[in-house]
Amino acid sequence: MTERGGTPEFRPIVWQGEHLLLLDQTALPQAERWVTCRTAEDVAAAIKEMRVRGAPAIGITAAAGVALAARQAWHDGHDVDEAIDAAAAMLRQTRPTAVNLAWALERAQAVARVQPDPATKVQALAALVDQLLAEQWASDEAIARAGAALLPRGARVLTHCNTGGLATGALGTALGIIRWGHQQGIVAHVYVDESRPWLQGARLTAWELGRAGVPYTLIADAAAASFITSGQVDAIIVGADRVAANGDVANKIGTLGLAIIAAYAGVPFYVAAPCSSFDLHVPDGSAIPIEQRSPDEVRRVGGVLVAPPDAPAANPAFDVTPAKLITALVTDVGVISPPTPDRIAAAVAAGGPSHSRLRAEEEMRA
Ligand code: MRU
Repeated sequence: MTERGGTPEFRPIVWQGEHLLLLDQTALPQAERWVTCRTAEDVAAAIKEMRVRGAPAIGITAAAGVALAARQAWHDGHDVDEAIDAAAAMLRQTRPTAVNLAWALERAQAVARVQPDPATKVQALAALVDQLLAEQWASDEAIARAGAALLPRGARVLTHCNTGGLATGALGTALGIIRWGHQQGIVAHVYVDESRPWLQGARLTAWELGRAGVPYTLIADAAAASFITSGQVDAIIVGADRVAANGDVANKIGTLGLAIIAAYAGVPFYVAAPCSSFDLHVPDGSAIPIEQRSPDEVRRVGGVLVAPPDAPAANPAFDVTPAKLITALVTDVGVISPPTPDRIAAAVAAGGPSHSRLRAEEEMRA
């Protein structure tokens, strides 16, 4: 790609070695505000408060948190290995569903472990964050090319949540396909689910598509079935927080409903995800931990109370789509269609070392 997704300077995660800058996703689209993280605790807070969100982005950010903890321990004359393990344990607790978090933390611990002394551990961790950002660009670009090749010319695509540069620190996964596809004249129009309750679609995807000049229509989540079954959508493309060994996918709440509607309407349903989102330890979707968020996010819209203040409410942040409803997994090592355990295992094995959680663990044990 000559131009990175149409917005070459769009870098929502900026790693400066001594601190990390994050484009605050709680402030968008009203304000472009940056958060500075100087410690692992700052990073943990930014992930928990969803100032940074999206599976790959929280993984990279967490690795930066470990790098900051190592640097601080070295500076203060404390045990660097202990600081790394304590920071990794703390960061691992921030959000449970996206496996990229565990993957990146395991990579950071593995990278530090093989270094001979505290100074080189600090240097290696700082370099790892740069490397993860660079790898994410390469990964997103591979996904974008592979995914766009699956779409018909003039495609009208529906997407859910936000899977763009904000969610990966690079081009994006599902939204990367859409942006790249639009640049190639393949994608003509995008339907953007608002993605209640946190409104990632309305607030973030609409903002990213607007900046990239991709034509879109924002729709209420409840309108998706009508658009899909009336022939106005040629493909649905979403991201993933964790892909199980059998191809079941955990993604933003509402994804499962879209997959069921797509099967009913005969519309292809694609999931775009790098190998770092695959967790081969998890046999199927029933074993994926689902984050339960505050009921207040359901009672309120944009902070404004729209229900009785004491209305009992449930707020699972993700749901699980069974592999049988997924037309293809679009990954950074190729398209897996239909997703089956053997095809997934082969694709993950084909990825380089550290490409997936299992591989990072193997590296750590070596
Ligand atoms: O709760 P979020 O906003 O972190 O959830 C994000 C998603 O569900 C995305 O679809 C997923 O992380 C993939 S991002 C490339």
